Amino acid sequence: MDMDTPTPYRYERLAELIVGMIDNGALAAGTRLPSVRAVSEQHSISISTVLQAYRLLEDRGILVARPQSGFYVAGSRRGALALPSVSRPRAKASTVSISGAVAGLLEHVSNPTLVPLGCAVPDAALLQSKRLDLALARAARQHGTRYNIYCAPQGDPRLRREIAKRAMHFGHALSPDDLLITNGCTEALTLALTAVAKRGDSIAIESPTYFGLLHTLEVLGLKAFELPTDPTRGIDVDALARLLDTEPVAACVLSSNFNNPLGCAMAEADKRSLLALLARHAVPLIEDDVYGDIHFGRERPKPFIALDGGANTIYCSSFSKSLAPGYRVGWIVAGAYAQQVMERKLAFSLCCPVLPQVALADFLESGAYDAHLRGVRRIFEENLGRMTRAIETSFPADTKVSRPAGGFMLWLELPRRFDSRALFDEALEQGICFAPGDVFSASRRFRNCLRLSAGHAWDHRIEDGVRRLGQLAHALLDG
Ligand SMILES: Cc1ncc(COP(=O)(O)O)c(C=O)c1O
Repeated sequence: MDMDTPTPYRYERLAELIVGMIDNGALAAGTRLPSVRAVSEQHSISISTVLQAYRLLEDRGILVARPQSGFYVAGSRRGALALPSVSRPRAKASTVSISGAVAGLLEHVSNPTLVPLGCAVPDAALLQSKRLDLALARAARQHGTRYNIYCAPQGDPRLRREIAKRAMHFGHALSPDDLLITNGCTEALTLALTAVAKRGDSIAIESPTYFGLLHTLEVLGLKAFELPTDPTRGIDVDALARLLDTEPVAACVLSSNFNNPLGCAMAEADKRSLLALLARHAVPLIEDDVYGDIHFGRERPKPFIALDGGANTIYCSSFSKSLAPGYRVGWIVAGAYAQQVMERKLAFSLCCPVLPQVALADFLESGAYDAHLRGVRRIFEENLGRMTRAIETSFPADTKVSRPAGGFMLWLELPRRFDSRALFDEALEQGICFAPGDVFSASRRFRNCLRLSAGHAWDHRIEDGVRRLGQLAHALLDG
């Protein structure tokens, strides 16, 4: 490197010089920069001036600092680390045995004293909590007595109308009578599974998948066929075709868009091939669209129901990831299984509490939901970018990280010998919570992986928590 005569802004000149060398190819992505001391001696400038220049470029995402190693030229934004591998689960149905691990995890994710990287729930500060509080208080004040009743099992008609109207956003014509309000997406999934499958049946699922689904499968006595899943394209439709040729499968449960934990969505053409395949084998598809509204691309990708008109699809969703996890308001569009689902709804919970439904109906009618969604999409995407950069600069260099197209989760894969359970224990001691990889698989794979949630408002505590996790991961791998 060559430095000119001193100027009042030496660090900026040094930074410019480095950027020039990166631009003209002299310093390629991944190149380690000379040490701060070496540059200082070579150019007779102070160590703090060199550090200031390196830090400036680090803040701009041009350099990344690796602990005990130095500064490196970053790759493109959110692209310096490789993507996680395509999963290769065994082609056998697994009996699910996850509930102990899930209960243990849930105990920690709800602990407010821990750095919240574990919970797949958006920060209440990012949601419309105040407006919803007002809507709820108004509904209680004005109609509290009237709503202290059982409502119809389908749920509040105004809320159903508002939800049905929103299906227009993904090009599907839905009538309020097509849907039934549930206690979150969790009840919707349980209703759907019990309507199409019985104990001992096998269900085809993504791998990795949301651990709550695995827990539900276990409690219902259902087995899981884990399908190979690509971190950007979703499940391998050919692998499912081979499975359906040889094994009885009662249903397939997939995320409509933005799998938890990968954040990936299937291309529309792949979704259509999958629907055709399932229809040929008369296997119903249960889709979970809780993350569908949190898309980073311009258009909301279509859920399966919009592609097959609901002929072979049971659609499940909720407001838990975008607006109000505590209201427990979800819904199901059960199509051909509507009668079975209604019977089960009556047996499981009769109907849902009325006041939260009324408050949400008021909020949706006010037209404020779309502006709110635009805001949270931008925040979650920014958070994911920041989190990715913190991972690039603090985790071991061979860490792989997902590039979500929506949602607010990152999936990290470390070398095979890495044990995310050991990291989990150490992180808890340091007051940090995350989700270890093995709870995302029926056969307890992914022990070398972990999921981080970027659903909280970004602050120093979150950034520091990610960096400390990275340092702990280094120590575990080196130790
Ligand atoms: C993919 C997925 N489905 C369903 C749920 C649960 O949704 P709800 O809170 O509406 O029951 C979650 C929560 O983490 C999830 O990630």
